[in-house]
Amino acid sequence: MATVLNHPLVGHKMAILRDKNTGTKQFRETVSEISMLVCYEATRDLPTEKVGIETPICKTECDVLAGKKMAVVPILRAGLGMVDGVLAMVPAAKIGHIGLYRNEETLEPVEYFCKLPADIGDREVFLVDPMLATGGSACDAIRQLKEHGAKHIRFLCIVAAPVGIERVEQAHPDVPVYAAVVDEGLNENGYIVPGLGDCGDRIFGTKYNEIV
Ligand code: PRP
Ligand code: URA
Repeated sequence: MATVLNHPLVGHKMAILRDKNTGTKQFRETVSEISMLVCYEATRDLPTEKVGIETPICKTECDVLAGKKMAVVPILRAGLGMVDGVLAMVPAAKIGHIGLYRNEETLEPVEYFCKLPADIGDREVFLVDPMLATGGSACDAIRQLKEHGAKHIRFLCIVAAPVGIERVEQAHPDVPVYAAVVDEGLNENGYIVPGLGDCGDRIFGTKYNEIV
């Protein structure tokens, strides 16, 4: 089962992302903010350990993160928009990159880049991409991560379609999915409805009629 953030702050920020009149700067900033909130939820079960410290008042014990090192892996391009927000939560993480784009007709992913930390198998991996539509890109990226030895993967997105969640769960039941929101479905072109349009184009301002 995907974990979905039900929160007024997320609802408010999603209205900004969905609005076609939101410009590039605010869109990018809002993607980053929501990513931070998704990461907060996706790290809820990270193991902790006790350490003794001294406050200005007395000695005490605190819970700090323990266990595995982490890696953030954005699916290019749109996943790059989530990296800063995730790193704000897990600043020591290493960063890998997986380059994929959807073939516009088949909607199947086309691979063009993969560079991962050498010790990816020892790390807790946060695979990030704002859009989970058919699920083809996420499934392909997870397969590539596993082929490189990754054993502990979480997939973080902002908008998910039910069919995409189902595809990831079927193909990779060991990979939990975290989404800010789940939308109604896909249109005939494979875009999420109501969605927010082409996330990569909106983050990078690459559409000819982009509002700045
Ligand atoms: C978008 C998005 C995902 C993919 C989701 O990327 O960022 O990677 O589509 O669709 P899917 O679940 O049906 O595979 P796109 O192909 O537009 O590439 P871009 O990020 O470079 O714009
Ligand atoms: N990729 C996007 O950027 N948006 C969608 O709605 C679907 C795939």
